[in-house]
Amino acid sequence: MNKILILDFGSQTTQLIGRRIRDLGAYTDIVSGDAELTEEILTSGVKGIILSGSPESVYGAGAAPDKKIYDCGLPLLGICYGLHRMIHDMGGKVEHLPDTEYGRINVIMTNNAEKCEKTNIFLKGFKSSFTAWMSHGDTLTQLPPGFVEAGKSGTGYPAVVAHEKNPWFGLQFHPEVTHCEGGDDILGSFVFGVCGCGKGWSMEHYAEELSRSLKERAGENPVLLLISGGVDSTVAGAALLKTLNPGQVHLMYMDTGLMRRNETEIVRVSLEKLGAKNLHIIMCENEFLSALKGKEEPEEKRRIIGDLFITIQEREVARLGLPDNYFLAQGTLYTDLIESGQGVGKKAHVIKTHHNVASPMVDAKRKAGRIIEPLDCLYKDEVRKLGRYLGVNEDIVCRHPFPGPGLGVRILGEVTKEKCDILREADAIFIDELKNRRSPSGKSLYDEIWQAFAVLLPIRSVGVAGDSRKYGWVLALRAITSADGMTADVYPFETRDLLEISTRITNSVKEIGRVTYDISSKPPATIEWE
Ligand code: XMP
Repeated sequence: MNKILILDFGSQTTQLIGRRIRDLGAYTDIVSGDAELTEEILTSGVKGIILSGSPESVYGAGAAPDKKIYDCGLPLLGICYGLHRMIHDMGGKVEHLPDTEYGRINVIMTNNAEKCEKTNIFLKGFKSSFTAWMSHGDTLTQLPPGFVEAGKSGTGYPAVVAHEKNPWFGLQFHPEVTHCEGGDDILGSFVFGVCGCGKGWSMEHYAEELSRSLKERAGENPVLLLISGGVDSTVAGAALLKTLNPGQVHLMYMDTGLMRRNETEIVRVSLEKLGAKNLHIIMCENEFLSALKGKEEPEEKRRIIGDLFITIQEREVARLGLPDNYFLAQGTLYTDLIESGQGVGKKAHVIKTHHNVASPMVDAKRKAGRIIEPLDCLYKDEVRKLGRYLGVNEDIVCRHPFPGPGLGVRILGEVTKEKCDILREADAIFIDELKNRRSPSGKSLYDEIWQAFAVLLPIRSVGVAGDSRKYGWVLALRAITSADGMTADVYPFETRDLLEISTRITNSVKEIGRVTYDISSKPPATIEWE
C-alpha cells in the first residue's frame, strides 16, 4: 500500500503528524528516527518520508537518520528538528539563539523558491501569509548550497525551505497542530501533490493491520486484558476477541462498588456480545468500602483505592493460574503514553498510577516484553471509530470518560455504601436527561458534552418538602466541553434544562435537597472535584 514513512525523533507531535495524514486518507508508518532504511522498508510502498521534530538538538543528543535517506530519491519533509537535521547533514548551520520562537508565529511566503516542479506543487498548499505554531530553541542561520528560503517567520528566520533540485522541503513550524492555519493543506500538498500518495487509509485497513500484528504477537498464548468498563479497554477487548481465538482471551473486570449505575451489567452484556468466553468479573465492593471507611482526605482515598486495585488484581490474576508466558493487554491510548512519558498534566500521572504504570505486575510484564497495547497509536476519537467498526455497542463507544477511582472521588469526604447509592441514582438521572435532550444542533446534550457527572458534597442543607422541614444532601452537577481533558470549558446549558433536571433529581432522589451547577472551567478547577 502507498504510504508515508515518518521518522520519529522523539517529538510529542510525531503521532499527531501520522494522525493528521490518516485523517487526510493516506497511510503512514512510524519508525524510529535512526532506523536502518532497509530495502524491505523502502520497497514497501513508501512514497515520501517525513522527519519529525525532537526535544533534542542536532548538536546534542539528537539522533541522525540513516544516510540512505538522501540517496533514495524519495521526497523528504523535515519538520522543526527534522528540518534542522537535513540542513545540518547537508552542511548548513543551525544555532541556539536567544530569540527562540514559541507559540503562534506569523509566516510570510517569499515566493523565491519556485524553481522545480515539485516545489511549485508543494507551495500550492500555502497561503501567502498565515499563522503557524512553533516551538523551537534552535534556528537555521545558514542554508547549505542548493537550499532556498520559501517563507520566513515574523521574526525573520527561515520558516519554509525547499531544495532547488530534489523534492526536499523543511518547515520550521508544526503543520500537524490544530493552531497552524492551513496545516492540513500543507501536509496534503506534500503527501498527495509531491509524493503522489493514494488515499488508501481507512479504519477497515487499520483493523486488518491490527489484527495481523495481534495474531503475530500473541500467537496461541493466553492474553489477559484488564477491563475498566470505559471506551478504551472495551475497544481493546473487542480487537482481541475479533482477532484471536476468544478462548485464549481472558477479560478481568473489578466491580469496586464505586461504579456508575448498572455499569457491571452493561460491561458484561457488551463483552459477551463481542464473543467473550472467559470474562472474570470480580465483585469487591466490600473490600473497597471497608478500606475507605472513615477516610476523608482526597489523596489518601485515591491512594487506598489505587493500592487495593493492584492488590486485588494480583490476587485474582494469580487465582486464574495462567501460564507464565501469558500476555497482559491494556487499552492505553497514544495520549496516555505522552502523558506518562512526558508528564503532561499532573493528573495524567495519577491516571497511570491507578491503572498501569505503578503496578508491579504491569512493570514485570513490560520488562518481559509481554505487554500488548492495541490502541497505543490512536487518539480517542479514532478509538471510537475503531470501536464502531468492530461492533462495540454505541452506548459504550460514546461513553463519557470515567476516572479509575470512580465514585470514590465524586463523593467528597467519607465514602459509604449509602452515599454511593444516592450518587449513582442522581448521576443516572442526570445522564438520562442529557441523552434525551437535544441541543440546537440537533445532537443530544450528552453527545455535545465531553464529560458530565454528578458530585455528592459532604454537606446537607435545609429545605422544605410538603409542609415539613427537610435536611438533604447537596449535589453538584458538572458538565464540560473539552478536546482531551487537559483543559475544559463549562457547558452553557439553557437555564430551562438545568431547572428541569434539578427538579427531576430532587423529586426522585429523596435524600438530595439541593442541586447546584459547577461553573468553573479547567484551569483553575480540575474536572473531577477530588
Ligand atoms: P481532572 O480531574 O484532572 O481530570 O481535570 C481529567 C480527566 O481525567 C479523568 N481522571 C482520571 N481518570 N484515573 C482515571 O482513570 C484517575 O485517577 C483520574 N482522575 C481524573 C477525569 O475524569 C477527566 O476525564
